[in-house]
Amino acid sequence: MTRLDGKVALITGAAGGIGREAARLMALEGASVVLTDIRAPEGRAVADDIAAKGGGARFMALDVTREADWEQTIESVMDEAGALDVLVNNAGIAGAGIALDEMDLETWRRCLAICLDGVFLGVKHGIRAMRRGGGGSIINVSSIAGKIGIPTSGNYCAAKGGVKLLTKTAALECAGGEPLIRVNSVHPGFIDTDMVAGAIQRRGPWFRELVETSVPMGRLGEARDIAEGIVYLASDAAKFVTGSELVIDGGYLAR
Ligand SMILES: NC(=O)c1ccc[n+]([C@@H]2O[C@H](COP(=O)([O-])OP(=O)(O)OC[C@H]3O[C@@H](n4cnc5c(N)ncnc54)[C@H](O)[C@@H]3O)[C@@H](O)[C@H]2O)c1
Repeated sequence: MTRLDGKVALITGAAGGIGREAARLMALEGASVVLTDIRAPEGRAVADDIAAKGGGARFMALDVTREADWEQTIESVMDEAGALDVLVNNAGIAGAGIALDEMDLETWRRCLAICLDGVFLGVKHGIRAMRRGGGGSIINVSSIAGKIGIPTSGNYCAAKGGVKLLTKTAALECAGGEPLIRVNSVHPGFIDTDMVAGAIQRRGPWFRELVETSVPMGRLGEARDIAEGIVYLASDAAKFVTGSELVIDGGYLAR
């Protein structure tokens, strides 16, 4: 028996990083996974690779900021699979690297649109679909930046903090309902993906050292570390868990 046998899962931002690893692990655990992203060739390649290894996977283009994309994608999943059991709102972009008093409104809004509006739209349409099926689990990928301030990442912190409380509100709106829908947030620390690699490239190798030494465990996390938390929250092992914040950060927030 694998942990997600028979479940239909949709994940956003699955063409790379944490989303790709979570899609791979969910498929290994028996889920039929719909990978979505704005980067279609990369996303399709990940889905093909999972399918070639015997997993249930297919790719659909979905820009999380477009409500019409959400409606079409979820309708298509419901038509084909008859249910949506797991939704992972993972797509995101990095913070601006600009102090708030220098930040233009467009930069602020772009991050909020992808990292917060995108999660709201997923939660809204995910709940509707899960109510038509047998309930389910929604996992919103926030960040340590959803729990603390980080200079020059004001847009990102505002979005990720918003995801944390949007999650709790959704959890409360669904907790007493039938069928049951659970909603939780995951808060990764610094994880070795393109997002962090991009910041290291922009700022220089000293930044990697700074990041690593700021983590009590002394290293970046792996995408797999976050994927494991996502699979736990998606699985029936977490059947009494809703509205919670799963921090996976090598001890960063323990200080
Ligand atoms: N890497 C870290 O250290 C870290 C830490 C905390 C939280 N997170 C969060 O984890 C999630 C995944 O990050 P990652 O590190 O894997 O980054 P990543 O850049 O490797 O992957 C993000 C994916 O989101 C996709 N995406 C961007 N805009 C989109 C949109 N409008 N619609 C659909 N897809 C879109 C990208 O194409 C990309 O494939 C993000 O929400 C990020 O904020 C990452």
